[in-house]
Amino acid sequence: MTNNSNSDSTNFVDIYVIGTGMVGTRQFTQEAISALEQCERVYLVHFQKSVKKYLEEFTDQVHVLTDEYNEGEKRDNTYARMAQQVLDGAEESEGPVVFALYGHPMVFVSPSRWVIDEAPERGLEVEVQPGISSMDCLYSDIAFDPAKNGVQMFEASDLLLREFDLNPDIPAMIWQVGMLESALYTTNSSEPERFTRFREYLERFYPPDHSVSLLQTATYPISNSRQIEFEIKDFEKMADEINAIQTLYIPPANERPVQNEELAELFKSKEHIETITNKNS
Ligand SMILES: C[S@@+](CC[C@H](N)C(=O)[O-])C[C@H]1O[C@@H](n2cnc3c(N)ncnc32)[C@H](O)[C@@H]1O
Repeated sequence: MTNNSNSDSTNFVDIYVIGTGMVGTRQFTQEAISALEQCERVYLVHFQKSVKKYLEEFTDQVHVLTDEYNEGEKRDNTYARMAQQVLDGAEESEGPVVFALYGHPMVFVSPSRWVIDEAPERGLEVEVQPGISSMDCLYSDIAFDPAKNGVQMFEASDLLLREFDLNPDIPAMIWQVGMLESALYTTNSSEPERFTRFREYLERFYPPDHSVSLLQTATYPISNSRQIEFEIKDFEKMADEINAIQTLYIPPANERPVQNEELAELFKSKEHIETITNKNS
């Protein structure tokens, strides 16, 4: 069974799935630290040595899973091995294990999903905790409020595969632009052609001179967040600048005015609030 995040739960937890946040070790939540204090071992998906070192303050059994990545291998195979190691480790271990992934552990991540899905078959109890996602950091970096005009979010390759319609009135955040059109892991840089189909797809919904930004939030306390702005028509020219840890921000091309004027009037009406609320409650 998967618990909602709740450190006071009386159930014994076998696997805590936690997020490390984005900036080194400084975005661990109090409840993640509480899970670490109880755990026997940690399984970690994170490339920074300082994060491993920090986790070794809680247990000397910190297993870094990033070595599972192999050039040219299907990423899903890697994620399956990571999930198996966590599940096997939880079965072997006397106390709880922590599975720590960067950012939020449920946001655009596969191994944590597979651990959650397979745990019940093995009789393992999982507690998933929220973490600070790259998206949370980007909202701060560009002072973006998703309540203002809404927000549409897609994974870049999935957008092309399923051909979701983009709405140019709504800001868009597109994940994994640097990993377009392949399910295989590679550290190789991209050729300009990698972005042609994606640019053509965006141009179905936006004018070619619409400005977009590659956003990369800071991942070390001493580094700065980066923003690279360019026009959609120049996508291929940006190939050398695009990497696997950027998110593409597409601001709206149009401002959408209020469509329902009658309802807008009701919002100001005392009579209306009395009909939709109960004054005796
Ligand atoms: C596999 S997902 C992991 C997301 C992570 N779980 C989170 O909560 O942010 C990788 C994608 O997250 C986004 N991402 C990761 N690191 C980022 C960063 N430093 N700045 C902006 N976006 C980032 C990019 O879209 C990247 O392709």
